Amino acid sequence: MYTVFWRLRMSNTPEPSESAVDTHSADLERGFLAKIESETKIEPKDWMPDAYRKTLIRQIAQHAHSEVVGMQPEGNWITRAPTLHRKIGLLAKVQDECGHGLYLYSATETLGTTREELVTALHEGRMKYSSIFNYPTLTWADIGAIGWLVDGAAIVNQISLCRTSYGPYARAMVRICKEESFHQRQGYGIMVTLAEGTADQRAMAQDALNRWWWPSLMMFGPHDSDSAHTRSSTAWKIKRQSNDELRQRFVDITVPQAEHLGLNLPDPDLRWNADRGHYDFGEIDWDEFWRVVKGGGPCHLQRMATRKAAHENGRWVREAAATYAQKQGADQQAA
Ligand code: 3HC
Repeated sequence: MYTVFWRLRMSNTPEPSESAVDTHSADLERGFLAKIESETKIEPKDWMPDAYRKTLIRQIAQHAHSEVVGMQPEGNWITRAPTLHRKIGLLAKVQDECGHGLYLYSATETLGTTREELVTALHEGRMKYSSIFNYPTLTWADIGAIGWLVDGAAIVNQISLCRTSYGPYARAMVRICKEESFHQRQGYGIMVTLAEGTADQRAMAQDALNRWWWPSLMMFGPHDSDSAHTRSSTAWKIKRQSNDELRQRFVDITVPQAEHLGLNLPDPDLRWNADRGHYDFGEIDWDEFWRVVKGGGPCHLQRMATRKAAHENGRWVREAAATYAQKQGADQQAA
């Protein structure tokens, strides 16, 4: 319908009056909202409000950046994994994360932007990646805690996003969630081995839990009351559950897992609330959260320096692929 409008506009028909254009825009908006209401996926070729497009580019690109930057803390332990079995599992996981980033960059490109623009925005600090990847991986137990907690939190968030209103994002989530469950299992498996190991191994697992628990809760974003985007993202069914709802769900799932490991969660306010049917838990350090989100995280400079260097070192691969594609195209035309 929108294309028809533009074709009419471009043909030699007389310019429509302002009110005709307004009526048409209102019709387009009504059509969009009717699709959202009826749970019909919005596809790249469909008309959509600029603000819907803009917030999708923001969120999906940040998600993609997070997957790619997130390869660094875990990649740090591939050469130091304690066994070949653990090395193979970690290698597979890090490769998966890269693939997740590529799916998500591709989903973002369907919204009319380019990967180069998105990567440049990240490198120039105009786009973010998840706060969680600002923290160092100090011991092997951190790799267990990341798989268990970070991928566990990601699964809670991403299962909800499987129902997001934008088609390419929802479909990318279905595939990513299948791989995330392997990530979470390999992380929890590492924590089980350590928790059932020597006193030193148990202490290493407890230390990692102490350091990764609160940053994992921060992955779900600020409280709903402080969330700039939740209201519009929920109205457009980009978000199907709020930050606080998903955080609560993650806590409710994870506390029994920590109990099974015999490890203590670093939150003195954590307790089961039978009236609510959920765990009550302490307040997040929001100063820490916003400091990290605004680029003050402990590893931010290192993460960005590594990301930029990798991008520069890969320039020749991109140029070779582009030249090859151009040559292929020329050969096909000549044939
Ligand atoms: N890290 C960095 N920035 C964050 C953040 C976090 N944990 N939580 C919120 N923010 C930012 C938002 O981007 C927004 O800033 P912006 O306007 O400059 O983009 C601001 O804080 C306000 O937050 P809102 O709640 O209003 O923002 P959203 O509605 O976008 O909600 C979100 C935040 C829940 C993270 C949402 O963007 C989302 O669900 N994103 C998709 C999932 C995702 O990005 N996950 C990253 C984890 S990495 C991962 O899953 C990889 C896995 O393999 C481990």
